[in-house]
Amino acid sequence: MSSPTKLTAWKALTEHQKEMASVNMKSLFESDALRAQQYTAKAAGWTLDYAKNRANKKTLSLLMDLAKEAGLEHAIKGMFNGAHINNTEDRSVLHIALRASQAQDVLLVDGVNVLEEVRSTLQQMEKFVAQLHSGEWKGYTGKRITDVISIGIGGSYLGPKVVTEALTPYKKDDIKVHFVANIDGSDITGKLKQVNPETTVFVISSKTFGTLETLSNANAARDWFLSNGGSQENVGKHFAAVSSNVKKAVDFGMEKENIFPMWDWVGGRYSLWSAIGLPVAIAVGMDNFYNLLDGAHQMDEHFRTTPFKENLPVIMGTLGVWYTNFHNAQTHALIPYDHYLRAMPAHIQQLDMESNGKANLLNGDDIETDTGPIIWGGAGTNGQHAYHQLLHQGTRLVPVDFIAPLASHNPIGEHHTQLFANCLSQSQALMVGKTLDQAEQELRDAGATAEQVAKIAPHKVIKGNRPSNTLLTDKMTPATVGALIALYEHRTFVQGTIWGINSFDQWGVELGKVLGTDIYNRLVSDSDNSALDASTQALINAFKKA
Ligand code: F6P
Repeated sequence: MSSPTKLTAWKALTEHQKEMASVNMKSLFESDALRAQQYTAKAAGWTLDYAKNRANKKTLSLLMDLAKEAGLEHAIKGMFNGAHINNTEDRSVLHIALRASQAQDVLLVDGVNVLEEVRSTLQQMEKFVAQLHSGEWKGYTGKRITDVISIGIGGSYLGPKVVTEALTPYKKDDIKVHFVANIDGSDITGKLKQVNPETTVFVISSKTFGTLETLSNANAARDWFLSNGGSQENVGKHFAAVSSNVKKAVDFGMEKENIFPMWDWVGGRYSLWSAIGLPVAIAVGMDNFYNLLDGAHQMDEHFRTTPFKENLPVIMGTLGVWYTNFHNAQTHALIPYDHYLRAMPAHIQQLDMESNGKANLLNGDDIETDTGPIIWGGAGTNGQHAYHQLLHQGTRLVPVDFIAPLASHNPIGEHHTQLFANCLSQSQALMVGKTLDQAEQELRDAGATAEQVAKIAPHKVIKGNRPSNTLLTDKMTPATVGALIALYEHRTFVQGTIWGINSFDQWGVELGKVLGTDIYNRLVSDSDNSALDASTQALINAFKKA
């Protein structure tokens, strides 16, 4: 794989960007009555309106050429067939297998039918979830379980937490699911205060069972259990694990039948569809978990089979490349107008930034262009009173994805209509902006003097022409939430493929882990730190003196 900048379509897009630099999106609407209709695509319960982009038919056609020339068709086939597209770890990338249709029986990877493993794990989950909810599973004093605390971090935390929150209207009342991730003792202390050891089950989610934060929190949970009435022989009644490292989980005290498998062909940030999603299944029930998987599968099928020009992940992925590499956009915002989806930007941030925060091509060469942007965002309308100012008038270009359901789970008063109106008004304002003439007239209409108009009007100018996508669905359901997350997973893959990077490894996080252990050892010993930089030495000393 050579640099994407060498591709013919890349060069054509560089030239095309110059043509588009003076084109305002408003004029694209004026010159094309069918624009809204034609720049709309649908998949798996979602409608994407991508008309408010700095793109015309030529832009889109060149972006599709770019995707083809970068080998996206081949890459998609490779992923779905189990090819080792994670080249630095020599692994398949098969989160799609976790949500494969029941109609499919076989997906052979390196001689193993991974679907058999997936289905038997789902059955194991079904049994576990049913036992918890029926009350058949009892704590060490014979009481039924009322709380589950999931302990994990990164991909073993964010996806399940975000989906559990997104599916709040589907939650079962009998068991409360909590999440602990941070090594900051305040996190687990706060959660333990809310629960009773007799009626709490801990699910330790760690693919490796070797992650410092998770193991420290798991040990703290077990110590708390043992010092609050529990005993070592009852640990198995109160602790389960999701891990590919069965031995370590058994050594911890888990019963083998309560250890759920993970596989090296599932990356952490793509793992919520596996048993890592067990907290979701406990919170909303197995039927809803299956619906979540089904929604994601619908998006997989759309991605696998739909021509690029109607393919949501391809359209969104290539438009992202257009802004990152041809408009120097450094960030990309996700703004859900749905309270329950408010944490989704954090999950997509991890998914995308851990996947595409890379500076090397697949062959190891340095890449000559930008890769993954900073992904950020938060719920509308709250953000309108915080960071939207910068979106409208700041000096940086920030492409935005607005995400909204047409119907609310809580239709009180005019709330949902107001919420939806705000969502639409933001994308509209970003595009149309406000001219100096309009600002001056507005001030005159309000009775301002000529002097006041001259002074204030420039500050009220909003340049507009700022791009956004709008994603709509009828309602946030397990299926539509599943499809939405799968859409972003594939969008990430589209971009990684165009850039020619490996979206499925994460070597960058390793150095911090290694240095973290080294510094910890220095904090708890009298080691000679003189070889360290002066700043780190001073910071270590500050901690030791405290
Ligand atoms: O942050 C790096 C990472 O390896 C993530 O990719 C992963 O999801 C997370 O740590 C947790 O890893 P584990 O599930 O092995 O505890």
